[in-house]
Amino acid sequence: MSKNKDKFDTIVTVAVAAIFFAAILYVFLEGQNHSSTSQKQEPSSIENTASIGGPFILTSHLGETITDRSWPDQFLLIFFGFTHCPDVCPTELAKMKMAFEALPQKIQDKIQPLFITIDPARDDQDTLGAYVGLYHDKLVGLTGTQEQIDAVVNAYRVYAQAQAPDENGYYVVDHSAFIYLMQPDGRLSDVFSHSTSVEELVSGIQRQVN
Ligand code: NI
Repeated sequence: MSKNKDKFDTIVTVAVAAIFFAAILYVFLEGQNHSSTSQKQEPSSIENTASIGGPFILTSHLGETITDRSWPDQFLLIFFGFTHCPDVCPTELAKMKMAFEALPQKIQDKIQPLFITIDPARDDQDTLGAYVGLYHDKLVGLTGTQEQIDAVVNAYRVYAQAQAPDENGYYVVDHSAFIYLMQPDGRLSDVFSHSTSVEELVSGIQRQVN
């Protein structure tokens, strides 16, 4: 009897956890949906915005110490990736560049674009500097110790998983590919996915930055 009750309790616990997870996912996806289709100004949900982002301390490709408060009056447009990425990062950074350049100058002036590496072992200052220079003068590359990178990756709920190296020591890092727009006060303004078009990114940014 008590065994059956334990079993039942376990089933209930799993079911509650599954419903809870589905609800969070729903809120997140709804938020994404709204951000790309509606004219709403405010972030779509508190649950969503409250938990993504946070303090970080990193080093720029120019060797400066950079924190989440380094540009207190700017929105931050952040992408996480690695310079050896064969496809996703070049695609997303090109999209970010095109969207940024399509924005009116006065909007551009309120945004600091950032590329944060998830592969600090290979992405040192010089490697990052050469890489961000391919995209935009204003793009700042950020690296740090593995511990500093782990902290910012966790804060932004980035998925990053290094794969086994090949015979030449080359490895890829599987990663999520969201573009985050952070408000000057550090809260999440909006998040754009891999499937967001350049046009949607431009309009999404313009809805939030004014
Ligand atoms: Ni990538």
